[in-house]
Amino acid sequence: MTKKELETLRREAEASYSQVSAGKYRLHFHLMPPVGWLNDPNGLCVYRHEYHVFFQYSPESPGGGHKFWGHYVSPDLVNWTYLGAPLLPDTDKDRDGVYSGSAFTGDGQLEVFYTGNVKEKGNFDYIFAGRGANVLYTKSSDGVNFEEKQLLLANQDYPSCYTCHVRDPKVFKEKGQYYMILGGRRKNDQGAVMIYTSSDKKDWTLLKEISTQKPFGYMWECPDLFEVKGKHFLLCCPQGLKAEKERYQNLYQSGYFICDETVLEDTGDYTCLPEDFTELDRGFDFYAPQTFTDEQGRRILIGWAGIPEETRYTNEPIIQEGWQHCLTVPRQLDFDGRILRQNPVKELENLRVRELSLNDGPVKADAFDLIMTFEGDQQSVTFNEDLKLDCREGLVTLTFLNDSGAGRTRRCARLLGKDSHIRNLRILKDTSLLEIYVNDGELVFTTKYFPEDPTHTVIKTSQTVQSAKLWELCRMEVKMNGDEKKYTAGDR
Ligand code: FRU
Repeated sequence: MTKKELETLRREAEASYSQVSAGKYRLHFHLMPPVGWLNDPNGLCVYRHEYHVFFQYSPESPGGGHKFWGHYVSPDLVNWTYLGAPLLPDTDKDRDGVYSGSAFTGDGQLEVFYTGNVKEKGNFDYIFAGRGANVLYTKSSDGVNFEEKQLLLANQDYPSCYTCHVRDPKVFKEKGQYYMILGGRRKNDQGAVMIYTSSDKKDWTLLKEISTQKPFGYMWECPDLFEVKGKHFLLCCPQGLKAEKERYQNLYQSGYFICDETVLEDTGDYTCLPEDFTELDRGFDFYAPQTFTDEQGRRILIGWAGIPEETRYTNEPIIQEGWQHCLTVPRQLDFDGRILRQNPVKELENLRVRELSLNDGPVKADAFDLIMTFEGDQQSVTFNEDLKLDCREGLVTLTFLNDSGAGRTRRCARLLGKDSHIRNLRILKDTSLLEIYVNDGELVFTTKYFPEDPTHTVIKTSQTVQSAKLWELCRMEVKMNGDEKKYTAGDR
């Protein structure tokens, strides 16, 4: 389709924004699509003192469709402006989707690298043949209007052991050198990532590949590689891991390997150990996380609070409202010498409007922030008759007790630290999304939740609660900027 047709399609779809916005499950403090479908966060960055969050966006249907990059911008992570969809599948190099990618702002412009997906017409399996996986580049100096797209890499540039599933470039700079990391599926059904280097961000040379000795999943999507407190972390999303009793319970996983200092050096391919893989989130709805650093030097992660191709549970209640999925809140990452801890960025505290008490009966608020500490060795919290979180001998379990999870049943995870019980919990409850942070962000569970009445939550806890703090959260401001062309980055 032409750019004009795609633009029209978006504008027509977004005409139903006020209906979606009035839905009972519409979120209050999570970024969701204005209308239709959202998946991965893309191009996360700070540019001219503002936070930019792009996302995989299909406005025409809550079930998905053409893949655009939608665009939100914020000065402070709680007030957001929607700036339309600057990247559309409007060239022959990305006509079947402006797939995921990243932004680089280290050289004064907002430079974007993404996968242009092309599906050739014909009888193809689109794994071994028939798919173009182009790395495309474009840039913006005002943070909203992008220049002409350029092709940087195409299928013939990748090592011949790869299928045509190669995607999701993340570009970063370290020690004066530019790096691009790309996820892929090798022909022997082994997930891996490729690392390229460049001195000008245009010409890229393969430096090395990272994988495991034996296949750890058939495909690694959405890689990221970054440093926290002197350690390198490789984030990736392996597909095809077999579920185990206490691990890998979702259809596809997201997690990280801690790498040694040679990971970006010219020392040959790098091998990770499957047993070193740590999952980032143990709830039902989490995938494709990406990170960036902000001006305060924080490493911030945002994930997709959703999962592709899952059929064991659905999101029917929100699909009925004309939308599906959202992003997680921004989470600050910290390395404690052993694991990455995730905690909501402190800016979210600005959404607290009213302090409530657990002793005052049901919580009458669509959105709240609950912090509890426990003493004793049996801990549990239930929300209505709907779901329960408990912990026994170090195993934290989230169980849906009825159909408020639309088919979601049970997820469990073993505490990673020394503790065999929950010391503290923070639960961010939005109308239809929960983010549960256990023991200072050592485990996180993100899950959709469709209570009968999202404005009414009866919270019951075990006797072991030592202290509890509860705040109602207000709806974060999301401006729909009808005329996004008037926006100038950093000029607000
Ligand atoms: C992950 C993913 C990416 C791809 C994008 C397409 O959810 O499959 O690998 O670029 O979604 O929307």
